Amino acid sequence: MQKIQQSFQVSYSYPVIFSENIFSIENLDLKTCFENYITSNSKILVAIDFTFLNFHKYIFQDLKNYFLFYFKDIKIIDKYIEIEGGEKSKNNAEIVNTIIESVHLNAIDRHSFIFVLGGGSVIDTVGFAAAIAHRGIRLVRIPTTTLAQNDAAIGVKNGVNTFGKKNFTGTFAPPFAVINDFNFLTTLNDRDWRCGIAEAIKVALIKDKLFYYNIKNDSVYLANRNMESMQKLIIRCADLHLQHIAGGDAFEQGSARPLDFGHWAAHKLEYLSDFELRHGEAVAIGIALDCVYSYLIQNISLENLQTILNTLIAVGFDIFSPLLELKDEKNSYLIINGLQEFREHLGGKLTITLLKEIGLGIETNYLENGIILEAILFLKNYYK
Ligand SMILES: NC(=O)c1ccc[n+]([C@@H]2O[C@H](COP(=O)([O-])OP(=O)(O)OC[C@H]3O[C@@H](n4cnc5c(N)ncnc54)[C@H](O)[C@@H]3O)[C@@H](O)[C@H]2O)c1
Ligand SMILES: [Zn+2]
Repeated sequence: MQKIQQSFQVSYSYPVIFSENIFSIENLDLKTCFENYITSNSKILVAIDFTFLNFHKYIFQDLKNYFLFYFKDIKIIDKYIEIEGGEKSKNNAEIVNTIIESVHLNAIDRHSFIFVLGGGSVIDTVGFAAAIAHRGIRLVRIPTTTLAQNDAAIGVKNGVNTFGKKNFTGTFAPPFAVINDFNFLTTLNDRDWRCGIAEAIKVALIKDKLFYYNIKNDSVYLANRNMESMQKLIIRCADLHLQHIAGGDAFEQGSARPLDFGHWAAHKLEYLSDFELRHGEAVAIGIALDCVYSYLIQNISLENLQTILNTLIAVGFDIFSPLLELKDEKNSYLIINGLQEFREHLGGKLTITLLKEIGLGIETNYLENGIILEAILFLKNYYK
C-alpha cells in the first residue's frame, strides 16, 4: 500500500458587530470593516427579506449611498433580490437557483460580496446559495430579527429544507462579517420580537446560570419590548454561541450538539404546525419539554422546573401545543418520530442535551418514550 496522509489547518476569523444606524454616514463601523477588502473591482450583490423591506423601504438606497460615499469605485448591483420572508424561503428550492443565477448574470466573483438583510430563514437560504456559487462567495450577514442577531446569523451554518426535513441541504461556511443593527428590531411584530428570547433561555440554561437569572429578572421588560434589556440579551446570547463554536466542534463532526437543547422536538413541531409555529416558539416548547423530562428523571428539582416554565410563560411563550399529542395511523405519537429524525440529521449516536441543573447541560443517548409522554401530559396540565 502507498499512502499519503494529507493534513492541514485553516483558521477562520470574522467580526460580529453590534451597532445602530449602520448606514448612516456618521457611523464608521461598516467603513472600518470593509476598508481593507474593497478594491476597484469589488461588487456587492444585495438580497433582502421582503417583509423587512416593507418596513424599511429605503434600505437599499441607504446601503448604496453609504458604500458609494466611502468607496466610490465599488459597483453595487442595481437590481437587488427580494426574498419572501420566513420559513417559506427555506422551503422553496427555486430561491437558491434565483440567487445563483444572479451571481452568474452579474459576474459576481469570489472577491465580491453578497449582502443579505433579513430574518434567519432568508439568511440561511442566501447563505447556502452564497456558499455553493463559485464554491463560496464572501457573505455579509445583516440580521434583522432578534433570533437571527443572537443565534441564526452569527455562526457557521446555512441550509434549506428538503424532503420535508429542516436544514437537510446546507453547508458549513463562516461569513465574512455579521453586522447587527438594533434599530431594525423596532419593526418586528411581538411574536418575532419574542423568538430570540427562546434561544437565549436555551443557551443560558445549559451554560450560564447568571445569564438565566438575568433573563428571569428582566422577563417583564423583555415582554414589554424594552430595548435595553433586549440588547443585553442579544449580546450575551451571541457571545455564548460564538464561544461555543470557537471552543470545540465548529463543524459538528461529533454526535453531540448542546446548542440544540430543546430542538429535537422543536424541529418536528415546526413541521407539524406547517410552520405556523415560529422556530423560536417551537424551541420554547421544546425547552419546556426537555426540562420536564429532566425533572421527571430527577436531574432538576420541581422548584427549578417551575421557575423555568414560569420564565418562558412570563416572556409570552406557550409551553404546550396540542401538536405534541398528534398520532399517526398506527397510533404512535408523531413527535416521537422527531427523535429519530434528529439523530439522522446529526449523524452517529442519538445525543440529546438535558439539564443537570440551571446553567448546566448534560448529554444522554437515550430518551424513554413513556417519560416523554408523561412530560407532555405535565405541560398540558401546567396551565390548569
Ligand atoms: N444557521 C443557523 O445556525 C441557525 C440557527 C438558529 C436558527 N436558524 C434558522 O433561523 C430561522 C428562524 O429565523 P427568525 O426567527 O429570524 O425567523 P424568520 O427569518 O422566519 O423571520 C420571521 C419573520 O420576520 C420578518 N422580518 C424580518 N426582519 C424583520 C423586521 N426587522 N421587521 C419586521 N419583520 C421582519 C420575516 O420576513 C419573517 O416574516 C429558522 O429557519 C431556523 O431554523 C438557523
Ligand atoms: Zn434554534
